[in-house]
Amino acid sequence: MNDMSATTDLAIAMRGVTKIFGKDPQTALALLRAGKSKSEVQAETNHVVGLDDVSLDIARGQIFVVMGLSGSGKSTLVRHVNRLIEPTAGEIIVNGTDVLGMSLDQLRTYRRTQVAMVFQKFGLLPHRSVIDNVAYGLEVRGVAKKERLHEAGKWIEIVGLSGYENSQPRQLSGGQQQRVGLARALAMDTDIVLMDEAFSALDPLIRSGMQDQLIQLQKSLNKTILFITHDFDEALKIGDRVAVLKDGAVQQEGRPEDIVLRPATEHIEEFVRDVNKARAIRVRSIMECGATEPCDLSVPTDARCEDVLPLFAEHEWVGVVDEHGTQIGRITAKQVIRALARHTPAAAA
Ligand SMILES: Nc1ncnc2c1ncn2[C@@H]1O[C@H](COP(=O)(O)OP(=O)(O)O)[C@@H](O)[C@H]1O
Ligand SMILES: [Mg+2]
Repeated sequence: MNDMSATTDLAIAMRGVTKIFGKDPQTALALLRAGKSKSEVQAETNHVVGLDDVSLDIARGQIFVVMGLSGSGKSTLVRHVNRLIEPTAGEIIVNGTDVLGMSLDQLRTYRRTQVAMVFQKFGLLPHRSVIDNVAYGLEVRGVAKKERLHEAGKWIEIVGLSGYENSQPRQLSGGQQQRVGLARALAMDTDIVLMDEAFSALDPLIRSGMQDQLIQLQKSLNKTILFITHDFDEALKIGDRVAVLKDGAVQQEGRPEDIVLRPATEHIEEFVRDVNKARAIRVRSIMECGATEPCDLSVPTDARCEDVLPLFAEHEWVGVVDEHGTQIGRITAKQVIRALARHTPAAAA
């Protein structure tokens, strides 16, 4: 399973990636490998375990979410992908290439052409206009002015900021600034976009709109998006797959419905417990109506999410029938998961 040939079809493969912060990481690494916990390693050596033996397969063309509480290692993980951080041990293979084997020149090209990053605090250049911010990455890449402004203008329109081309970042709201950051990353036209808590600073309503837009954009652009969040609802809503991180280690990885149905640890169960409050939502309020392929498995319109959720262990969708048993639509795993995420108190706040 861990051979290189299996990784070339993936956008990103991490293999046994461990990161220890401190002067003598090897001593701490030995303790970690001997079974000591992050806090024990820290107490004994004053070294911090950033990541602990992380292996992930991130397939192309999906939104892959890494979710975890503050300090769980999310930023450390994502920064390994563009090698802003070097691991203490392990491999990182992106688009079939070993990132750690790249020369400085190759790394520079790699960052400009293969992985773009969106930051939590926007990271905009304060004295440049919106369009010059969006065009910045292309400028660095040496794209001629006319072409880069044309490209930037296109992305500004896509993220809904037409008319703001010549504004300064400080004249924009937080949500608008985040859109500039997103447009700048998309303008790089990389296959992979890394987003580290990109929406965490936004108000709930604006945040929800940005989530919807990201899902739409991913569908139309078919990029691989590695999305970092501390918010379980956000992870369920936008993730095709979700990995949950604690103390630098992956506790569980799977489809959102797998995680909600079968939380692997007590820590994850705690997150799922909040989602459970929304399990009373009826199928009729979230189903897709209309003709669908017939399905041998169906549920009535007044079934609750609680009743249909277990069916998604085996099926991507099931039929919905009226009181006469006639199929009138269908309901998908994604619809149920998104309804659960949307209706939790934290998301509704
Ligand atoms: N440069 C660093 N030096 C020492 N410890 C660090 C450094 N960067 C992160 N850490 C530690 O590594 C762990 C993971 O941090 P981080 O990846 O920033 O978590 P998250 O993004 O999930 O909040 C934390 O315990 C943090 O204190
Ligand atoms: Mg972080």
